[in-house]
Amino acid sequence: MRRTPVTQLPAWLALGSHSAALKSLHLRDLFASDPGRAERFSVKAEGLFLDYSKNRITDETLGLLLQLARESGLAESIEAMFRGDAINLTENRSVLHTALRAPKGAEILSGGVNVVPEVHAVLDKMEDFAERVRSGAWTGHTGKRVRTVVNVGIGGSDLGPVMAYEALRHYSDRDLQFRFVSNVDGTDFAEAVRDLDASETLFLVASKTFTTLETMTNAQSARQWLVGELGDESAVAKHFVAISTNAKEVSKFGIDTANMFGFWDWVGGRYSMDSAIGLSTMIAIGGANFREMLAGFHAMDVHFRTTPFERNLPVLMGMLGVLYTNFFDAQTAAVLPYDQYLKRFPAYLQQLTMESNGKSVTLDGVAVDYETGAIYWGEPGTNGQHSFYQLIHQGTKLIPCDFIGFANSLNPLGAHHDILVANLLAQAEALAFGKTSDQPHRNFTGNRPSNMILAERLTPGILGKLVALYEHAVFAQGIVWQINSFDQWGVELGKVLAMKIVPELQATGDPELGHDASTNALIRWYRGHRA
Ligand code: F6P
Repeated sequence: MRRTPVTQLPAWLALGSHSAALKSLHLRDLFASDPGRAERFSVKAEGLFLDYSKNRITDETLGLLLQLARESGLAESIEAMFRGDAINLTENRSVLHTALRAPKGAEILSGGVNVVPEVHAVLDKMEDFAERVRSGAWTGHTGKRVRTVVNVGIGGSDLGPVMAYEALRHYSDRDLQFRFVSNVDGTDFAEAVRDLDASETLFLVASKTFTTLETMTNAQSARQWLVGELGDESAVAKHFVAISTNAKEVSKFGIDTANMFGFWDWVGGRYSMDSAIGLSTMIAIGGANFREMLAGFHAMDVHFRTTPFERNLPVLMGMLGVLYTNFFDAQTAAVLPYDQYLKRFPAYLQQLTMESNGKSVTLDGVAVDYETGAIYWGEPGTNGQHSFYQLIHQGTKLIPCDFIGFANSLNPLGAHHDILVANLLAQAEALAFGKTSDQPHRNFTGNRPSNMILAERLTPGILGKLVALYEHAVFAQGIVWQINSFDQWGVELGKVLAMKIVPELQATGDPELGHDASTNALIRWYRGHRA
């Protein structure tokens, strides 16, 4: 039976007329007339403080957004996900990244099998390996300890590991260095290894499928480089480990499956940073910190599953996103972390949000006639203030912002942190309230919405909570939009076409080209110009 289109749900229809009136309200007036607003529109939970009072909402708006969540069946869908139902319909899979951080002893079934013991078996194996690398007990082919870990992967097999490494660098073992190779551009690999000593280098080949062209190309180059440097094919065994769901391809590549860390088809690439894909993170910060991060994820999972929508952080954030996307015509959303360690957080969120909700067909296979996933982007503060914030403050576009900040710096240094936080708070204030001036170019209209997410300090646990917060907000939006947030067919066509073009670029003579006139001409141009 087909779902009732979201656009016909009573709350959606009510939001349509309500938002027309909402647009004439200014945050200045909403605050002036309501002293309790900041307190009422904020939630403290799981060590996070979300102030969402600077959004263009009234109590009625919030009521309608949460009613929309209910009418969309969000509560039932949350249960279906946590229960392990095959909610990824186009791939007929469970969606169980929440099992990756379930405590030992929990029971979560996929296809009738409790997956939690397997999850913990892999975690234990990862921890054993990570501790051996950290202590120097794991040695390379020539007997030397590892000094550099190079993660080779792309998409979810890269962005999570890089983001988490940068975010938790404060907690990392500074005797080890970490590099991340993702792009198939040979420059990425060449620059990553140019100053490395192969005898002290460990490659982690991270790929769920172990067939991804970029990762396999980089992994082959890594293998050649290592064997070339150490002069012995058998060196591969001590310098390569694999992280994958595909044991067959791993052994074909020449990595002993004893040195493989597995995960499962019910973990999507962009939801995999707390699976074995996080091995580089665990080597960097150690098993205890990694488990603290998982506990943070889990705490947010429990919060999402059990907290009434009115105080449910992911539901509130997700539904505010729906408001701007569908009723304010916002095309993008900015994520602005005021913490240098979170510099890769926006890039990480881009895959999480856009690969998940960049869809235009519903679960019933019908083309949507409303907007879905926003474009996510951002930079750490205060750098963005001296670049794109101009447009957020005075441009013609409405850009809802998520500000993220911490009460304590991990690197206290004079007045730096107070200055940083002052800027963070000032930006949200300026966006919301603006400033009236007789000189038009000095006028700030204000009424530009933002969320403020604060925590005491950036710890592994808080990072886990932040990531899970966005994972679940994305989920809530996908449910409302009736799309499958867990497939990614949109990346396939380009991959297939590239595989066809590679031999055409490499062929000798003048191969017959069957593309459109533009692509044919571009292929000929390349063939004519390359050395
Ligand atoms: O870009 C598509 C994608 O399938 C992502 O979803 C995934 O994270 C990435 O490729 C890498 O895939 P794999 O881990 O299988 O190499």
